[in-house]
Amino acid sequence: MDHFLYRDGALFAEDVPVAEIAAAVGTPFYVYSTATLLRHFRLFDEALEGMEHLVCFAMKAASNQAILKTLAQAGAGMDVVSEGEYLRARAAGVPGERIVFSGVGKTAREIRTALEGGIRQFNVESEPEMEVLNAVALSLGTVAPITIRVNPDVDAKTHAKIATGKSENKFGIPIARAREVYAMAGAMEGIDVIGIDVHIGSQLTDLAPFEAAFTKVAELTEVLRADGHDIRRLDLGGGLGIPYSHSNQAPPLPTDFGALIKRTVGHLGCEIEIEPGRLIAGNAGLMVSQVIYVKSGEGRDFLILDGAMNDLIRPAMYDAHHDIVPVIEPAPGTEERPYDIVGPVCESGDTFAKQRMMPPLAAGDLVAFRSAGAYGAVMSSEYNTRPLIPEVLVKDDQFAVIRRRPTFDEMINRDTIPEWL
Ligand code: LLP
Repeated sequence: MDHFLYRDGALFAEDVPVAEIAAAVGTPFYVYSTATLLRHFRLFDEALEGMEHLVCFAMKAASNQAILKTLAQAGAGMDVVSEGEYLRARAAGVPGERIVFSGVGKTAREIRTALEGGIRQFNVESEPEMEVLNAVALSLGTVAPITIRVNPDVDAKTHAKIATGKSENKFGIPIARAREVYAMAGAMEGIDVIGIDVHIGSQLTDLAPFEAAFTKVAELTEVLRADGHDIRRLDLGGGLGIPYSHSNQAPPLPTDFGALIKRTVGHLGCEIEIEPGRLIAGNAGLMVSQVIYVKSGEGRDFLILDGAMNDLIRPAMYDAHHDIVPVIEPAPGTEERPYDIVGPVCESGDTFAKQRMMPPLAAGDLVAFRSAGAYGAVMSSEYNTRPLIPEVLVKDDQFAVIRRRPTFDEMINRDTIPEWL
């Protein structure tokens, strides 16, 4: 459910007409709904009621500070994967004790920044990382709280580029070697072992792989406790999928996910963390774009938009489907026709949809890409020297630009020319 609905024949973001934002900031742009962000965060929070828990938003999905602050004020923690994300979360006012640090390649410098600034825990992914973490913690005269990310060898049945829980993936340590690695961690002076971490992939539309993974984590908890480790926190990752198309089968809800967690690990008395990204932000954002030209090709018509693959890479990168809707609601009974919907970038891959049925559209019309709030703006680039597009946050009848479009001067002046030229 989201808060982007037609009202009086036009698309609204909460109580603001999308066309009004377009007139104020120009196209293309991203717009987020505060109400949808909060609704989705609260669904997870409520689904874990009765267990000690923290919902850590995977901020890689949408990292604008205004979004982080909105969620943090509602009680969210953050899952960060880089020093930049850590500093951004802190700048948005998230306290260190609500930040978990994930990722396979944390550098000594990143670890130091988080240890000095305050951190809830590191989710350690390998023995060499643990050695660096131990050394940095000792050099600072502190102890680093950790979970170890285990790879449960479960098939998440999602797109290969976003599956992470099979043994051939680079993530975590094989669950079969967990006891050995926990023993090594237990012997390190600079490390405090507090729990187990698992994350098997993204856009999962079935609970079965989660169930398999969480069951293995529950078994491992008992084994590690018998080995003498005080396992008191389980980080169960993110990954719950969202409906990308209204015609899609609906994925399980956060309530079902919460019930599964209670069923599989509830008896262990551990504090629970989860790291959802997409489900909180995905359907809370639109990318709005304008038709530049309608071009008649050989047997097909192209809608050429001012938004492109550099603004929203998901269709080009994962063959992802995004519903694309006109900002002016079509009159009932309007006959739809197929379009190839493309951007202006000089690659055939800059195609958002092929033969997509749409009402007839003309140059100047606005369209909105739905479900673009997660892995949209954060994955954008300046390819073709196209400025990063603005982000706008709506709350009730107000909207604010939360990242403005850079000027061409700002972009061009970042280059420096060596003196020999
Ligand atoms: N925790 C960890 C350790 C992760 O690696 C991820 C996502 C999450 C949590 C959040 O997963 P979510 O709840 O958002 O599914 N760019 C891709 C998705 C990449 C996901 C990477 N890791 C896309 O646009 O589909």
